[in-house]
Amino acid sequence: MATVSRRSEMAEATSSITIPVLLLGCGGVGRHLLHHIVACRDLHSKMGLVLRVVGVSDSRSLLLVDDVATTGFEDEFLTEIFRLKSSSGSSFSDLHDLGRCQLVKGAEVTTNIINVAGQLGKSTGLSVVDCTASPETVHILNKVIDFGCCIILANKKPLTCRIEDYDKLISNIRRIRFEATVGAGLPIIASITRVLGSGDPIYRIIGSLSGTLSYVMSEIEDGKLLSEVVLAAKSHGYTEPDPRDDLSGMDVARKALILARLLGWRIDMDDIQVESLYPKELGPNSMSTEDFLRIGMLSLDRGIQERANAASSRNKVLRYVCVIKESRCQVGLQELPKDSPLGRLRGSDNVVEIYSRCYNKSPMVIQGAGAGNDTTAAGVLADIVDLQDLFH
Ligand SMILES: NC(=O)c1ccc[n+]([C@@H]2O[C@H](COP(=O)([O-])OP(=O)(O)OC[C@H]3O[C@@H](n4cnc5c(N)ncnc54)[C@H](OP(=O)(O)O)[C@@H]3O)[C@@H](O)[C@H]2O)c1
Ligand SMILES: *[C@@H]1O[C@H](CO)[C@@H](O)[C@H](O)[C@H]1NC(C)=O
Repeated sequence: MATVSRRSEMAEATSSITIPVLLLGCGGVGRHLLHHIVACRDLHSKMGLVLRVVGVSDSRSLLLVDDVATTGFEDEFLTEIFRLKSSSGSSFSDLHDLGRCQLVKGAEVTTNIINVAGQLGKSTGLSVVDCTASPETVHILNKVIDFGCCIILANKKPLTCRIEDYDKLISNIRRIRFEATVGAGLPIIASITRVLGSGDPIYRIIGSLSGTLSYVMSEIEDGKLLSEVVLAAKSHGYTEPDPRDDLSGMDVARKALILARLLGWRIDMDDIQVESLYPKELGPNSMSTEDFLRIGMLSLDRGIQERANAASSRNKVLRYVCVIKESRCQVGLQELPKDSPLGRLRGSDNVVEIYSRCYNKSPMVIQGAGAGNDTTAAGVLADIVDLQDLFH
């Protein structure tokens, strides 16, 4: 028995491929990705795969291994980064032992990322993973793809910028994955891509793509007040620090744009009609978060309650959704049949209904938790692993 197992280990070792990874952004999602990479060592080795993390950046600096061509950070070091970045405001210079790595700051960060991409992209492949929330990374990403790097995104902003930048970003479609940008770990983009690739035209997508707004609308359906639900959600950490970032619908609009562009629509953010759940007078330019939560929000309760009641009298329910159909992309409140996948939605799940020729009366439905650091990082890791096939 011992001989057999040793032989199979050797077989694994000889056929294994190494994927260098450069991580941009080490917040909730990025640091969980590092954690998952370490936790999955055995699993990956059984798959003949080694992930070698050569660099990690945050908003201030970039940590690089000394020799990006041959080495990666030790697992202990990755775990230390994970722990350090768990506290907000932390920076890489607080790490105990910077040992055999370089810490780069300022304008040098971008230069170094591009150098590493140039060095590794063509030969071994390099996975550049964007776990920032920055609109700026698109410029870096659009440079590194020219070196043949793979790009994996949790960050929506590079995909929702000007169409010209988007075109460039997806110009090598086999080398980019962005599943985690819509529905975190749920296979929404993969499913849409499969349906389209089979020649089955999609004519409508409708989805509740914000966990916070799914939760808010299902609580309102149960007769609760918007203000009370938002406060409760905030206290459980389900909302952004300023809940108006959820209530504005802009995050849903970004996801809608990603899906519409996936369908081949050449549109921009400005082409999406977005209904905010609060008026401009209650916006961040007019009042503080605290005033909004304490006073401003109360004035929204009646209006939304009346709309929910009106929907209910028609045997429908109110949901905050994106609707992509007939060359229009809309984000806002809609009345939907109670007896539909979106109508039956309870709690904070994401739900997407996809209608195509094959899925017309009964849509393809994807549902589940659509956020969370852990789940999102798992979605990112699945994308990295998926891209390894390019290098066999
Ligand atoms: N969390 C979720 O459930 C979820 C789900 C789906 C998608 N996403 C998306 O995933 C991305 C990451 O989310 P998160 O929750 O991890 O955000 P986060 O906690 O705010 O982390 C963002 C990270 O990016 C770094 N950063 C900011 N600007 C940067 C730049 N120009 N270059 C390099 N690093 C930069 C920040 O640095 P500092 O550490 O120095 O601040 C931080 O480490 C976001 O785009 C988000 O929309 C999140
Ligand atoms: C995700 O990570 C961020 C940043 O480290 C943290 O503030 C937040 O509480 C985490 N969220 C969850 C649900 O664990």
